[in-house]
Amino acid sequence: MSKLREAPIGVFDSGIGGLTVAREIMRQIPQERIVYFGDTARLPYGSKSRNTIIRYSRQIVRFLRTRQVKAIVVACNTASAYALETLQQESDIPIIGVVKPGARVAAKESPGGNIGVIGTAGTVGSHIYREYIQSLRPEAQVFEKACPLFVPLVEEGWRKDPVTEIVARRYLEEMIERRVDTLILGCTHYPLLRSTVRKIMGEDVVLVNPAYETAIELRELLRQEKIDNQGHNKTEENPYEFFVSDEAERFRAFADSILPVDITTARQIQIEEY
Ligand code: DGL
Repeated sequence: MSKLREAPIGVFDSGIGGLTVAREIMRQIPQERIVYFGDTARLPYGSKSRNTIIRYSRQIVRFLRTRQVKAIVVACNTASAYALETLQQESDIPIIGVVKPGARVAAKESPGGNIGVIGTAGTVGSHIYREYIQSLRPEAQVFEKACPLFVPLVEEGWRKDPVTEIVARRYLEEMIERRVDTLILGCTHYPLLRSTVRKIMGEDVVLVNPAYETAIELRELLRQEKIDNQGHNKTEENPYEFFVSDEAERFRAFADSILPVDITTARQIQIEEY
C-alpha cells in the first residue's frame, strides 16, 4: 500500500468545536488517521476579520503540512467561509471545508426551500451559506441568524441547562416565525445543542449537521483521489494526534466529554512560528 494512503487527515478549528467534525470522521471513516489542531490561544474566530482568519489558517496549514497530512478539513465554519478558497488556491493537496457539504444537503432536502442558517457573526456576515444554497436552488429563501452566545454556553458545559434553552428560544424565534422547514447548524458547537434546537424547532424541521455531511464528502474525496487508507488504523499506536496553541488541559477535558477516544496526547505548539 502506498505511503500516501496511510498518511493522516489534517483537521483544524479555532479550538475545541471542530472535535464535532473529527468525531464524525472517526465514526464514518475509522480507518483514517487524524492530526487535529485547535487554535485555542486565538479563538474565537467568529468575531475576527477575514484577513486575520486567512493569516491564522495559512499558519495552521503550514503546521499540518509538517505532519505529512494527505488532505485537510477546515472544520471551522468561519474559517471555511473566509479562508477556504485562498487555502485551496495555494495548496497541492485537497482541502475541504464544512460549509458546502452542509449547504448542499440543505438545498437538496429542504421540502419547501425555506431554509434557516445559524452560525457565528462572521459566518452569517459572509452570507456564504445563502449564496451557495441559492446557486444550487435559486428559488430558495434563506434566513441567516448569528447566535454568538451559543459557543460560550457550550464551552461552559451548559448544553442541557435551562439558561441555554431560554437563549435558544430567543435566537430561534425568528426562524419559527418565518416557518423555516430546514435549519443548518452552521457552527462547530451547534450540533452539541441539537436536542435543545430540536425541542424548540419541533420534529418536522430538517436539522442539518455540516460536520456529518463533511465526513461523508471527505470519504468520497479520498476514494476519488485514490488516497483512502485501505488498512486499519486500530493496529497503530497513535491514530489520532491532537495539537493546540494554548495549554492542553482544558482542551483535554472538553475532548474527553465528546470524543470516543483517549486524547491524553494533546500537545501545545507555538503556532505563530509557522
Ligand atoms: N469554530 C467556530 C465556527 O464554527 C466557532 C467558534 C469560534 O468563533 O471560534 O464558526
